[in-house]
Amino acid sequence: MSQLASRRIVLGVSGGIAAYKSVDLCRRLIELGAHVVPVMTDDAHRFIGPVTLSALASEPVHTSLWDDASVIPHTKLGQTADIVVVAPATARVLSAYATGSSEDLLTATLIATRAPVVVCPAMHTEMWEHAAVQENIKTLRRRGVHVVEPEIGKLAGGDVGAGRLASTDSICAEIIRVLELSHDLAGIDIVVTAGGTREPIDAVRVISNRSSGKQGYAVATVAAQRGARVTLITTVDRAVPAGVLEIQVETAQQMKDAVDAAAVSADVVIMAAAVADFRPVICADQKLKKADGIPNIVLESTPDILAGLGQRKPVGQILVGFAAETDSLVAHAKAKLTSKCLDLIVANDVSAPGVGFGHDTNAVVILSPNAPPISVALADKHTVAHALLDSVVKVRRQKQETK
Ligand code: PMT
Repeated sequence: MSQLASRRIVLGVSGGIAAYKSVDLCRRLIELGAHVVPVMTDDAHRFIGPVTLSALASEPVHTSLWDDASVIPHTKLGQTADIVVVAPATARVLSAYATGSSEDLLTATLIATRAPVVVCPAMHTEMWEHAAVQENIKTLRRRGVHVVEPEIGKLAGGDVGAGRLASTDSICAEIIRVLELSHDLAGIDIVVTAGGTREPIDAVRVISNRSSGKQGYAVATVAAQRGARVTLITTVDRAVPAGVLEIQVETAQQMKDAVDAAAVSADVVIMAAAVADFRPVICADQKLKKADGIPNIVLESTPDILAGLGQRKPVGQILVGFAAETDSLVAHAKAKLTSKCLDLIVANDVSAPGVGFGHDTNAVVILSPNAPPISVALADKHTVAHALLDSVVKVRRQKQETK
């Protein structure tokens, strides 16, 4: 079995009792054909000796930012890795990574890398369930970090509960899955939109909606991680995923101009943005005065960006819409799928708890003209993004087969 042949894996080991299990993980990764580069924190040395890992890995253990300053070890490790895996990941390392603190070689490497990262937390139940640790896990997930959740079982000191390092099998399976994913969109140009447009009423007021951009950013992040060249056209100001080209817009018209220009050379366009359907006909140059009474704001329709793209879709291009519904989810989404000439539509019932606008989670049904619907139960928006991109990969394969 050489599922990981020629893959360069940086294996970070931090200081918890589960550090001894990293030895077995290292051995298994080598058996699977990987080139394993171990990095240990100072605290990890209290649990296992570096010689043990050095003897099993592909190269000696790296421990310090200052071993050989001429090669800048953290950037070199980060740049050359196909994947960085931290097993076990302690509460301290998760906290440093989530807050961007690069206090030692391992945390500096995590900040310096653009490779996918898998963290495998292990700690006592009380620590694992602490709000601070859970917040850090949420932050890391939001940024696209893969988390192999700890298992329930025996812990140090005879305690039993959640917090035991996941099994070597589970960690290896996740590494293989992430590495496979990280290439399936390689070379594909994807345009993603995010956020709600703002349509000006006067110099200070706008008509807008509750879109936070979280779903669109999750799609952009995951698409980039899976190898796509991503252009993100957005109305919100969130941290841009590594490697993504960001274009800021405000109104539906500005979004249309940016999307139309980018779509010309795109293989896939994914409209996760909540584009206003109406805008004021007139935008007053000055702030409307309260003293002048309630203004009579006349609205007109905005251009339907997606419908326009659907009408002039180049052969082979994949068009994906989202449908924000509050009733008859599938029926309304199907109608949009057909009327806008889409390949896929992601329907979310934004009246359901935890779904759609502003939440970190979403629940969707992915519809296409010729395949059965795919339901994704309430999950992190990155999980929804992965499910959507899996469908994009399938549609692309079908289009290529029928060429
Ligand atoms: O941003 P979040 O807080 O994470 O929330 C995510 C979300 C709820 C915004 C997202 O999941 C979502 O549903 N986005 C689409 C919202 C929407 O505008 O739905 P719609 O059913 O009104 O439009 C259907 C499709 O047409 C959408 O892809 C939309 O981008 C597109 N459209 C709509 C109007 C318009 N003038 N031009 C368009 O291109």
